[in-house]
Amino acid sequence: MSIHKEIRKVTTHVLQAMKHEGKKITMLTAYDYSMAKLLDKTGIDVILVGDSASNVMAGFDSTLPITLDMMIYHAASVVRGVKRALVVVDLPFGTYQSNSKLALSSAIRIMKETGAAAVKIEGGEEVIDSVKRILSAGIPVMGHLGLTPQSIHKFGTYVVRAREEEEASKLIADAHILEDAGCFGIVLEKVPASLANQIATEIKIPIIGIGAGAVDGQVLVLHDMLGITQEFSPRFLRRYANLDKIISDAVNNYIKDVKNNNFPNENEQY
Ligand code: KIV
Repeated sequence: MSIHKEIRKVTTHVLQAMKHEGKKITMLTAYDYSMAKLLDKTGIDVILVGDSASNVMAGFDSTLPITLDMMIYHAASVVRGVKRALVVVDLPFGTYQSNSKLALSSAIRIMKETGAAAVKIEGGEEVIDSVKRILSAGIPVMGHLGLTPQSIHKFGTYVVRAREEEEASKLIADAHILEDAGCFGIVLEKVPASLANQIATEIKIPIIGIGAGAVDGQVLVLHDMLGITQEFSPRFLRRYANLDKIISDAVNNYIKDVKNNNFPNENEQY
C-alpha cells in the first residue's frame, strides 16, 4: 500500500490567512518549465508569469509588445512545472483596457489554456469594470498599482510614483476600489514605503511590494535577483546571485575544453 503525501497547494485563501497571521508572502517571476519547477521546490508561495517576459525572455525594451499568445505559452510552461505555488499570470497590454468583455475573454483564455490560478491587471478605477467582469466569472484577480510598466509612455520615466499628495490619494483610493471589487491581493510597485505601509494597514487583502518597503510580501523579477540581467540596478533590487558570471565562466570553460580536445574524455564517449 502506498502512502500518498498530499502537497498543500497555495490558494488565494492561504495568502489571506498568511496576512492575517502576519506571515510574509514570497513571490518571484518565472516564465518557463525548468525554472518554475526549481522555484516550486523551494517553497515559494506565488509564481508570477509576469509580462516582464517581454523584457527578459523576448528582449523587447518594454512590456507593451508581448501578446496574449506569448503569455499563454510562458504560463502553460510554468504551470507544468508547479505542484504547490499559486501561479498568477499578467494580462498583457491591450487585452483588458478597452472593454470588460475583451478583458473577460482574455482572462478565460489564460485560465483554460494554461491551468493557472489567477490573473493580474495593472490599474485601479479606470479598469474596474474589467476587474469586476473577470471576478464575476470566478477568476481570481490581483491588482497592480504604483509604477505600472504598461503605462511607461504616460509616466515617461521609471522613477518612484506617488510622491505627491494627489497621486498618493488616488493610489489609496484605487487600492480600496480593488479590495471592494474582490481582488485577492495587490502588487504595489515603486512607491514610498510610508505610503505602502499605510495601504497595507488599511487594506485587508495582501499587499505585495516591489520597491515599496516591507509590506505583506515581496516580489522580484527572477532574472534581476539572480543576476542574469546586469543592466537593471534600481535601489530596491537585492541580487542574491551573480549567474551572469557563473554562466559565462561555465561556457568559457566548455569552449576551452572543446578547443583543446579536453572534452569529451575517454569516460564521456561510447
Ligand atoms: O511583470 C512583472 O514581472 C511584474 C512584477 C514586476 C511585479 O509585474
